[in-house]
Amino acid sequence: MAANNNQRVTIPALQSKKENKEKITALTAYDFPIARIVDDAGIDLVLVGDSLGMVVLGYDNTMPVTMDEMIHHTKPVVRAVKRALVIGDMPYFSFHLSTEESVFNASRFIKEAGAQGVKIEGASKKRLKLIESLVEAEIPVMGHVGLTPQSIHHIGQFKVKGSEKGEARKVIQDAVNLEKAGVFAVILECIPMELAGIITEKLKVPTIGIGAGPRCDGQILVFHDLVGYSSGYLPKFVKKYADLHGIISQAVGKYKEDVQKGVFPDDEHSYHLKPEAARLLKKIRKA
Ligand code: KIV
Repeated sequence: MAANNNQRVTIPALQSKKENKEKITALTAYDFPIARIVDDAGIDLVLVGDSLGMVVLGYDNTMPVTMDEMIHHTKPVVRAVKRALVIGDMPYFSFHLSTEESVFNASRFIKEAGAQGVKIEGASKKRLKLIESLVEAEIPVMGHVGLTPQSIHHIGQFKVKGSEKGEARKVIQDAVNLEKAGVFAVILECIPMELAGIITEKLKVPTIGIGAGPRCDGQILVFHDLVGYSSGYLPKFVKKYADLHGIISQAVGKYKEDVQKGVFPDDEHSYHLKPEAARLLKKIRKA
């Protein structure tokens, strides 16, 4: 069953897009108004990514983001979205504890926030076991391989993963292992397009690329990068479709100028007394 524009996007509907060779569209969102815009545009999957930490909360990387922050931001996204699949991103150290604690944290996205699944970075043996436990607990999981931003302290900087033979083999194996563990889709981040093509052919579940070229089954971008809302560095793979930072800066500058010059608020943006009240106040003023 393919997803149409009004039907709620389910995991089977998302997966059938791969079979039907229809591209999957995905974006991040972290609040109500943006999630509403993204959903109204007919985007299939909304990820409440831990990129929240960098683009909204002002952290240098995603590591400080907490479970409570993720739940707080997932709730308004769920309230806004009527059609898309909403996935919550497990933040650093929310799934590195015991299986019980990790499964409990994942369940908060479903029970407390109302999301339909979670995303987890990495494919270590321990991670694969946890994914099996999550699937067993009826929590759908999206995998994430290639560049995994939560490994920033290991890798030192965000860079392309899998350009060399050994690393490429490892990324393929990671994706295959994730599929075996039961993920419903895999994010491929910042890997060569040829490698993404091979993985996409190998897997039955959809691949969703970010910086992984056109051969993936779908694409995801960070919303703030796409609309030019972020002010910092943008990686090569980002296509900026608008300059919101410029538009908003201009509006704020003009507001400041108008207030300083006394041009705002003008008559059009002010209220008036009713005539009898105006007459009464005039009398009081004179008395
Ligand atoms: O946190 C995030 O936004 C992500 C996407 C970049 C896939 O993980």
